[in-house]
Amino acid sequence: MKINLVAAAPADITVDALAVPIATGQRLSGAAVDLDRALGGLISELLGSGEFKGRIHEVMPVPTNGRIAARRLILYGLGAINDLDGQRLRSAHHELVRAARTYGYSRIGLMRVDPLSTDSLRAVVEGCVMGTFERRSRQTGSQPERGELDELILTGFGQGRDHEVVLAQEAGEATNRAREWQNAPGNELTPDALAQEASKIAKRHGLEIEVLGPSELRAGGYNLLLGVAAGSTQPPHMIRLRHRGRELAGKAADANAPVLALVGKGITFDTGGISLKEPPSMSQMKADMAGAAAVLAAIDVIAARKVPLDVMAVVATTENMVGPAAQRPGDVVVSADGKTVEILNTDAEGRLVLADALTHALRNGATHLLDLATLTGAATIAIGHGASAAVSNNDEFWLLVEEAARRAGDRVWRLPIFADYRVLLRSQIADLRNSEYGEAGAILGGMFIGEFARGKPWAHLDIAASSWNTNAELTTVLRGPSGAGTRLCIELAELMARTER
Ligand code: BES
Ligand code: MN
Ligand code: ZN
Repeated sequence: MKINLVAAAPADITVDALAVPIATGQRLSGAAVDLDRALGGLISELLGSGEFKGRIHEVMPVPTNGRIAARRLILYGLGAINDLDGQRLRSAHHELVRAARTYGYSRIGLMRVDPLSTDSLRAVVEGCVMGTFERRSRQTGSQPERGELDELILTGFGQGRDHEVVLAQEAGEATNRAREWQNAPGNELTPDALAQEASKIAKRHGLEIEVLGPSELRAGGYNLLLGVAAGSTQPPHMIRLRHRGRELAGKAADANAPVLALVGKGITFDTGGISLKEPPSMSQMKADMAGAAAVLAAIDVIAARKVPLDVMAVVATTENMVGPAAQRPGDVVVSADGKTVEILNTDAEGRLVLADALTHALRNGATHLLDLATLTGAATIAIGHGASAAVSNNDEFWLLVEEAARRAGDRVWRLPIFADYRVLLRSQIADLRNSEYGEAGAILGGMFIGEFARGKPWAHLDIAASSWNTNAELTTVLRGPSGAGTRLCIELAELMARTER
């Protein structure tokens, strides 16, 4: 898709449809007033009559009858301006583009969202690019429901901002790549296939890559990952990509320089193992690698941009299956870190593979850890689909993560770590148990992983709810695969590179 910034007045851009943002309870302002005048008051009439209200995701195509260069107007709602954070603004543009594609508009014009902050260009572009996402169909001979968007023409955003557009397009496309991976069925996107995707990224940018297979995992003592993999015929992998951004930027070698590890849960299918899931909640588990998708899509962009920071992506990937060799509830396993873990519930597998993944990141020099995982159903109970549920052991690092989330329009909400809760991680027989807490599930799932951070600044994003909105009534959060965490990871690397001393 081509995206162009132009200085022309909205009435003068030749497009299939000119999109006009409308917030509830606001008068037309700025360029919209001139446009309305050119159209003989058409917009104000539709607003005055209440036919168009400006509610978020409200979309209305209107003929222009040759009064302006655009063949159609497409009014679209932003909801109340006070409610409009980066995530809602992206969502409004996501739905705008989907509607425009349904009407068959392939060139659309966009005006600046008037009462908004300077971040709006980026949010508008990212939202529109995400709106071009279409799940790849596996239906034979099916016709696409929507057309493709070929060109986006942006006016009123000011001059000299082409680079911002490029960055936003990149981030939007990366998010879509993560969404596509999430959507891929478990028999297509196996642990081997995920490793293949990682090696394509490495090749593209000349990144260092290491893919551990079963024998290397045994040699390294990654028994938590191996234990989860025991029921599967697919070989598990620990994937590690390394972007040496400091060196690329010509920075002097410094043993104290930060190394950010983005660690993703890559369960390509989660049956629950012997602690088997119920069928209705199982088919969704093809997307139990959303954390892996986010960190891989992110490092692809981080490397492409040559972000001047050392960043690694670590993905622990396997299936969690049943079979004669599968691990049993009650098994005790020695982690790569040396801690013993009692596996009370084989369905709490995410924290197991992530524990070994954190150890792997630390062994390879990580100084800051961010893990992303579809970890608990409890995240949905605690916060719902509107944000990733987080925990962190470090306020300073958390502030960076939160700022990255804000800039990326990729919501996070931090839950507390209470020292008192640590007793709930204790096992009668081993150092830790992986489940059976019965309460505070999202916090305790995170706290389990945090036990393997060895005191390094660490944050955990439980994206179980945010990466796939299953609530049909909640339309302002992307439904289906969302690529949650992708843009946040890119932004965090950018922020850390900028704040690095
Ligand atoms: N992958 C699931 C969590 C999940 C649930 C992701 C719903 C997406 C949507 C995870 O492996 C899991 O099964 N978690 C258990 C943990 C419990 C056994 C402590 C859960 O949440 O029930
Ligand atoms: Mn599970
Ligand atoms: Zn899982």
